[in-house]
Amino acid sequence: MADQLRQLGVGVLGLHEGRTLLVALNHIIPPVVGEPTEYVTRAPHARAVAGCDLRPEKIEAARRDVPDLFYTTSYDEMLARPDVDIVAIYTPDQYHGEHIVRAFEAGKHVICTKPLVNSPEDARRVLEAGRRTGRKLLVGQSTRFFESFQRQRAAYERGEIGELELVDAHYVHRMDWFYAKSPWAIDTTDWVFLGLSHPLDLLRWYLGPIEEVHAFGARSALARRYNVRSYDILTVNVRAADGRIGRAMGNYGLHELPSARNAIELMLYGSEGTSLAQYHDMRYFHTAPDGTEIKEDMLYARRSYYFNNEVHGMHYGEFANYTEYFARALLEGRDYSPALEEGIETYVLMEAVKRSAASGKPVALRPLLDEVGL
Ligand SMILES: NC(=O)c1ccc[n+]([C@@H]2O[C@H](COP(=O)([O-])OP(=O)(O)OC[C@H]3O[C@@H](n4cnc5c(N)ncnc54)[C@H](O)[C@@H]3O)[C@@H](O)[C@H]2O)c1
Repeated sequence: MADQLRQLGVGVLGLHEGRTLLVALNHIIPPVVGEPTEYVTRAPHARAVAGCDLRPEKIEAARRDVPDLFYTTSYDEMLARPDVDIVAIYTPDQYHGEHIVRAFEAGKHVICTKPLVNSPEDARRVLEAGRRTGRKLLVGQSTRFFESFQRQRAAYERGEIGELELVDAHYVHRMDWFYAKSPWAIDTTDWVFLGLSHPLDLLRWYLGPIEEVHAFGARSALARRYNVRSYDILTVNVRAADGRIGRAMGNYGLHELPSARNAIELMLYGSEGTSLAQYHDMRYFHTAPDGTEIKEDMLYARRSYYFNNEVHGMHYGEFANYTEYFARALLEGRDYSPALEEGIETYVLMEAVKRSAASGKPVALRPLLDEVGL
C-alpha cells in the first residue's frame, strides 16, 4: 500500500458511470492469476473521497457500494472540500465544459470522461480556464487503458511492428438501452462525440495531429425509432499532418455482433508486422516475424481486475488505470497523455468529422483549431 501522503483524493461528479470509478478505487481485488501478489487496490496513489449527483437515488446506490465517503447533491460543496485533489467528471456530455471550468477555478485537477467537450464554445472556455489557472486535466479515454490496447501499445513502442503505415479503428454498439437510460443522448450531443470519440482518439494516439478528414453518415432504423438527432452510422477517412492515413467507423444501431468481431477494435498495419486489440473480449492478436499469428487472451486472468466479475463492458479496470496514471504523473511532475491540449485537438477532430459528414465534403482541421484558440 502506498504511503498515505502520496495519495491524491478523488471526488466523482455524476454517479452512473462515475460509480464505477468509486467502486474501482475502493475495492480490494484478488491477485492476477499467476502473479505472486496479495489482494491489492487497483490505484495505490489515488483514493475515492467524495461523490456528487443531483439525484439522491444515484447517491444511495453509490453509498451501498462504497459507504464511507462524503456524498452530496451540491457540486459547490464537493469543490469546497480540501481532501478533493482531483475531480472526476461523468455528467452528460453537454455539461462537461461548465463542470471542468468550475473545478479548475476551485483549484482542482480534473479527469473528464470522453468526450472532453462537444461544442467550440466549451472548447475555447476550457482551454482558456486551463491556461489561466494552471490546473491539469486528463481525458478519460478508457479504451487506451484497457489491457489489450495497453499490450498493443507497449509492443508498438518496442518497435515490434516496424514503421506504422495504416491505422483502422472502430467502435460499434447497439444503443437502444442507452436512449432509455440517458435520454439526453437523443438530442443534446452527437454520436461523433459519444461513440466515435473512442476510435478517433485511437487514430490520434497513433498518427499524431490530424490534418484533414472526410466522413459520411447515415441513420439506422433504431435511430429513426428513437428520433435521434445525429447520424448514428459513420465512416471516416483521416490524413495526418505527416501524411499517414487511417480510418474510423461507428455504428450505434446495429443488431448484435458475431463473436469474431468486437465492439472496439484497433488494427495496426506496420512495415514489420500487424496487430489487433479488442474490447471487450480482451484479446490481443499479433504476428511473429515469420508471420505466425500469436493470440493473447487475458479475459480469465484479468476479468476480476477489469470487470469486477460483473458482465463484460463495465470499466473498473480502465477507469482505475487512468486515475492511477494521472495521480502518479501529478505526484511525480511527469508528462501524461491525453492532456488538455491534446484533448481539445481531438475535440476539433470530432467537430471536423461532424461537419464533414453533414456536408459530405472533406474538412481541414486548421481553421477549426484557430477557432478554438489552439
Ligand atoms: N467508456 C467510457 O469512458 C464511458 C462509458 C459510458 C459513458 N461515458 C461518458 O460518461 C458520461 C456520463 O454517461 P452516463 O452513461 O453515466 O450518463 P447517465 O445519464 O446515466 O448519468 C449521468 C449522471 O450525471 C448526473 N448529473 C447530471 N448533471 C449533474 C450535475 N450538474 N451535478 C451532479 N450530477 C449531475 C445525473 O443525475 C446522472 O446520474 C457521458 O459523458 C458519457 O459519454 C464514458
